[in-house]
Amino acid sequence: MTKLYTKYAKIYHEMYQSIFDYEEDFKLFHKILEKSNCKKILELGCGSGNLAPYFTKAGYDYTGLDIAEEMLDIAKKLNPKTSFVYGDMRNLDLRESYEAIIITGRSFCYMTTNDDVMRALSSINQALAENGWLIFDNFNANIIFLDFQEKMFHESRYGNRYYKRTSNTRMTLEHGWTWDWHAIYEVEEDGKKETFEDNTILRAFTEDELGLYLKMNGFKIGEVIREDPGIVIVAQKSEIKQTVARKQYFRLR
Ligand SMILES: C[S@@+](CC[C@H](N)C(=O)[O-])C[C@H]1O[C@@H](n2cnc3c(N)ncnc32)[C@H](O)[C@@H]1O
Repeated sequence: MTKLYTKYAKIYHEMYQSIFDYEEDFKLFHKILEKSNCKKILELGCGSGNLAPYFTKAGYDYTGLDIAEEMLDIAKKLNPKTSFVYGDMRNLDLRESYEAIIITGRSFCYMTTNDDVMRALSSINQALAENGWLIFDNFNANIIFLDFQEKMFHESRYGNRYYKRTSNTRMTLEHGWTWDWHAIYEVEEDGKKETFEDNTILRAFTEDELGLYLKMNGFKIGEVIREDPGIVIVAQKSEIKQTVARKQYFRLR
């Protein structure tokens, strides 16, 4: 697991206020959720809970789930009345079912192996109510790999802290559209400077492969929204609860 979500969770929370536009993300997901009148929602990979206040204020029955305790600690502290639970999207063990499951901030791109993807989609299917919706954003492999950026730079300010991040990336393509991401974080506060390093693997998807994974796991594809460098997929749990393909895959495991 990347240190950005564990040891450096606070850095994530502060830096990403200027990387993602959470209000715009909320508006997009809300617009989609409104169409199917879903109110009871689960956000997988909710991180430090940046979207939670938007959903709760809009009247959703919202639960956030993440695999990093440190991210959840921030989320709970900032949103004490909201429900946040620890869990792994590849192996959800939930008492309740949800009308919609959302995944934002490209958290699904940590499903770097085909097995991760199969387990996550199968688990999500089981956690959804009948005809429930999965809405998730992903890096678009066509955009990432046809214009691959080997060096990126980001700087931001949060209160009296100044952040600089230098990212070096390298295509690996080991098990899907994957790349290694090495990042150096420099944090300056009151004239003092600290440096951290982090390393992780990320994965992008083509629409076609996401479509196939979804069908294998009992979903039908609804809307596809293309947003450079991402794609948001809206899929609905279909009536077929156990597809033949899914049975064949999991029988071998
Ligand atoms: C880029 S952050 C996005 C967080 C949040 N959605 C946002 O937009 O700020 C990715 C998050 O996915 C979580 N994550 C990664 N793998 C996970 C898994 N298998 N199950 C649940 N959460 C996971 C990480 O801990 C991290 O909080």
